[in-house]
Amino acid sequence: MMISTRHFWPLRAKMFARSWKSSVLSIGRTQTAQSGDSTDMDNVIDFVNMNRDRYLDELKALLAIPSISALPEHAPDVRRCADWCAAEMRRIGLENVKLIDTPGNPVVYGDWLHASGAPTILFYGHYDVQPVDPVDLWESPPFEATIRDGEIYARGAADDKGQVFMHFKAVEAHLKQRGRLPVNMKFMIEGEEEVGSAHLDDFVRAHKSDLAGDVVVISDSPMFARGVPSICYGLRGLVYFQIDLRGSSTDLHSGSFGGAVANPALVLAQMLSQMKDRSGRIKITGFYDDVVPLTDDERQAWKTLPFNEKKYRKDFGIPKVFGETGYSTLERTWARPTFEVNGLLSGFTGEGAKTVLPAVAMAKVSMRLVPNQDPDKIARLFEAYVQGLAPKTVQLTVTRMHGGKPWMTSYDNVYVQAAARAIERGFGHKPVLTREGGSIPVVSTFQEELGLPSVLFGVGLPDENAHAPNEKLDVANFHNGIIASAILYEEIAKTR
Ligand code: BES
Ligand code: MN
Ligand code: MN
Repeated sequence: MMISTRHFWPLRAKMFARSWKSSVLSIGRTQTAQSGDSTDMDNVIDFVNMNRDRYLDELKALLAIPSISALPEHAPDVRRCADWCAAEMRRIGLENVKLIDTPGNPVVYGDWLHASGAPTILFYGHYDVQPVDPVDLWESPPFEATIRDGEIYARGAADDKGQVFMHFKAVEAHLKQRGRLPVNMKFMIEGEEEVGSAHLDDFVRAHKSDLAGDVVVISDSPMFARGVPSICYGLRGLVYFQIDLRGSSTDLHSGSFGGAVANPALVLAQMLSQMKDRSGRIKITGFYDDVVPLTDDERQAWKTLPFNEKKYRKDFGIPKVFGETGYSTLERTWARPTFEVNGLLSGFTGEGAKTVLPAVAMAKVSMRLVPNQDPDKIARLFEAYVQGLAPKTVQLTVTRMHGGKPWMTSYDNVYVQAAARAIERGFGHKPVLTREGGSIPVVSTFQEELGLPSVLFGVGLPDENAHAPNEKLDVANFHNGIIASAILYEEIAKTR
């Protein structure tokens, strides 16, 4: 017979024995609600502890499906992954499970709506993943999940399949042990998040009443650090472009033509060098007009978070941090907009030397946005600025790609408080409050179209290698995350 431990603590959590309570943004009163149901909840937690190994086997099956939304050749895998999620959702006891078609990849929907009078959680996540290249840098194949040193390695382990699966298992534990959920739940798992959720705004608008609820729960972000769980109350937005320059109809001999014909690679470099000034400020006219400044409370609170810049530099091999003058590293990534070059291509890049004047040069660039920057407005400002930078010696084409709005919520609402209590019980530490630099396009849509606040409770880690080779999820965080999720539903039920 298996012995069940009520809670499972990662050993490493001991490193953070200190309490951050006095030093972070206040989550407000997190009074423990009366728990007439505490034995029930203990049964749910016992069930989770007893099923640890099965969970990992099942998660491996989900992680084996290469549901890469960016690559057309994987369209059948994306569909297969949606089917897998639907089958799993039926198996754990969700009802009305269906794939809802969009002009792109289907949304997987399922609900359980028998907690009359209780709040309704809309759970959002994504089953699509990022491409895996460069694949030779993976220590184990990206779609053969492998456990090493307490981490499960696979594409999607953290972003976002592992974290979606955590909630499937929390629901399963409630339904298996108690035959009911403490709240009503609607699951909405999309397949286009990693390509910008292009069809999701229309989807939400078209299904407003079906998606109605009280709060959105999302687990699609890292926690602050190992042993330091967190709740995220802000995300950056994004606007992404491709810039193409053409200097001639074909590549030219650099001896015969060099000096008389513009070199598009160099022109592109010169244009890109005009995007930021020496203090790291973006030079696009009007770019900062709508930026909401950091509050003093946030700046004070973030200074007290256990962020170690030396470790940060070491972990990621960064010789010296860089960014806008006057802001800390956390402030630069969480609360300030930025301009990045994501890719650059021109001329001869093979081995050896080739004397060529390239005909074309291309850059992929993007801007992370913060509240209240509007992606459409920033896109217009960017296009105008780039047009102004391009000399007449080249043909310029600017193509807008995906993006999403920034998002921020008040960090002291009853749902954040409920999540704080659940996380403390699941992880043994009070969560800290963070913002994040990444983007989840639909979160602001939930607020604007459905009037719903979102609670972002993620169990990834800053070094999870999301979008990179060797993506991983800490197995203990996954396990504690299932427990915290199960408790979260109970705590959200108590908000009413
Ligand atoms: N899970 C991430 C978003 C995220 C990253 C949240 C880091 C918090 C911290 C999501 O899957 C993602 O990668 N989003 C894209 C959106 C883009 C394609 C529109 C991103 O941020 O690049
Ligand atoms: Mn994600
Ligand atoms: Mn992602």
